[in-house]
Amino acid sequence: MAATDLERCSNVDPEPRSLSLGGHVGFDSLPDQLVSKSVTQGFSFNILCVGETGIGKSTLMNTLFNTNFETEEASHHEACVRLRPQTYDLQESNVHLKLTIVDAVGFGDQINKDESYRPIVDYIDAQFESYLQEELKIRRSLFDYHDTRVHVCLYFITPTGHSLKSLDLVTMKKLDSKVNIIPIIAKADTISKSELHKFKIKIMGELVSNGVQIYQFPTDDEAVAEINAVMNAHLPFAVVGSTEEVKVGNKLVRARQYPWGVVQVENENHCDFVKLREMLIRVNMEDLREQTHTRHYELYRRCKLEEMGFQDSDGDSQPFSLQETYEAKRKEFLSELQRKEEEMRQMFVNKVKETELELKEKERELHEKFEHLKRIHQEEKRKVEEKRRELEEESSAFSRRKLEALQSQALQATSQQPLRKDKDKKN
Ligand code: GTP
Ligand code: MG
Repeated sequence: MAATDLERCSNVDPEPRSLSLGGHVGFDSLPDQLVSKSVTQGFSFNILCVGETGIGKSTLMNTLFNTNFETEEASHHEACVRLRPQTYDLQESNVHLKLTIVDAVGFGDQINKDESYRPIVDYIDAQFESYLQEELKIRRSLFDYHDTRVHVCLYFITPTGHSLKSLDLVTMKKLDSKVNIIPIIAKADTISKSELHKFKIKIMGELVSNGVQIYQFPTDDEAVAEINAVMNAHLPFAVVGSTEEVKVGNKLVRARQYPWGVVQVENENHCDFVKLREMLIRVNMEDLREQTHTRHYELYRRCKLEEMGFQDSDGDSQPFSLQETYEAKRKEFLSELQRKEEEMRQMFVNKVKETELELKEKERELHEKFEHLKRIHQEEKRKVEEKRRELEEESSAFSRRKLEALQSQALQATSQQPLRKDKDKKN
C-alpha cells in the first residue's frame, strides 16, 4: 500500500455524519436476508445433561422435544463418568436444528466422586479446542463446521428437600465459567408444594454463598426483559417429565398417573416444565448460543492464546505483531527443545555408562563362577583318576590272585591223578 493510501486510511473521520436518504434504497431488508440465510444454513444446539443415573434426564429430553430419542439406560456400575453425545437432525416448519444431547453417564455412581467433574470439564474444553483449531486453520470452513460447543448444561438436582450435595456444588462450581448452567429440580412430583418452595430458596442460597454462577435469562432485550426477569426468580425450575398421555377431561395430555391423581407435565400449577421449555427453547436459545460464543468460548480462547504467547497491544504502544510473537515463541520453543535434547542425551549417556558398569560386574561374576567351577571340575577329575587307579590296582591284584588260585588248583589235580589210577588197578 502506498504511503498516501496509508495516510488516507488512518485519517478516518471519527464521527460519521448522518444523512437522510432521498428514497427507498433497500438495505432495510438486511434483517430479512440474515433470517433467510440462517434458516438455509440451519442451527445447531447442544445440551449437556448432568445428573445422577435414573434422575429422569432422558425422559425430560423426550418431553421437551416431544419425541423419543431412544437413549439407552445407564448402569450404576460405570468405573468413571463417561460423556455420551448423540446428535439428531430435527425439523420444525422450515427450520432445521442439529441437536446434540450429551449425557454424563454414570455421574454420581462412583464411591470416590472427587474427580467426577473432570470428564465433563474435559469434554467441554475439547469442544472449545476443536472450534479454536478450526478458527486457526489457514483454510477455515466455519460455515459448514459442526459446532459441538456445549450451549447449556441442565443440572438435575435430586429432589431431597434438604440441600444441595457437595458433589452438586463442586461440579457446578467447576463448570460455571465454561458453560451456561440451568439448575433444575428433577422429579418434582415427589416433593410437596411447601417443601419445594423451601428447597428452591435453600438451593439458591447455597449457590450464592458458594459463588456458583448460574445462567441468568437476559434482561437487556426489551422484548423479553420482563418475562426473563420473572423467570429468573423461579429458578431452579422444578420439572416433571413424562411421555405418557393421559386423558384429562376430554383432552389427552402428557402426565404421570398415580393412584391418588394425575400430575400434568404442562400444567403450571403442577410443575415448571412449561417455564423451562419457554426459557430454554422458545425465548433464550439464541442467547444461550451467543453467550457460549462471546463469554465462555472467548474466555477459553483468550487463555489459550495468552498461553501461546499472544497478547493485545495497549492503546499507546506499537500494534501487536504476530510475526514478532511467532519468532519469540519459536526461539523459546527451539531453546526448550535444545535443552530437552541435551537433557535426554545426558540421560542416555548416563544410562549407557550404568549399563556398561552393570555388564562388567556381570562379566566379572561370571568369570569368577567359571573359575570356581573349573577348580571343582579339576578336583573331581583328580579324585576320579585316583579312584580309577585304585580300581585298576585292585583289579590287577584280583587277576593275580585268581591266576594263582587256578594254578594251585591245576597242580593239585595233576598230583592226585596217578594215585587214582593205582586204586583202579588194585580193584
Ligand atoms: P439414565 O440415563 O439411566 O441415567 O437415566 P435417566 O436420568 O435418563 O432417567 P430416565 O429418564 O431413564 O428415567 C428413569 C426413571 O424415572 C423412569 O422410570 C422414569 O419414568 C422416571 N421418571 C422420569 N421422570 C420422572 C419424573 O419427573 N417424576 C417421576 N416420579 N419419575 C420420573
Ligand atoms: Mg437416560
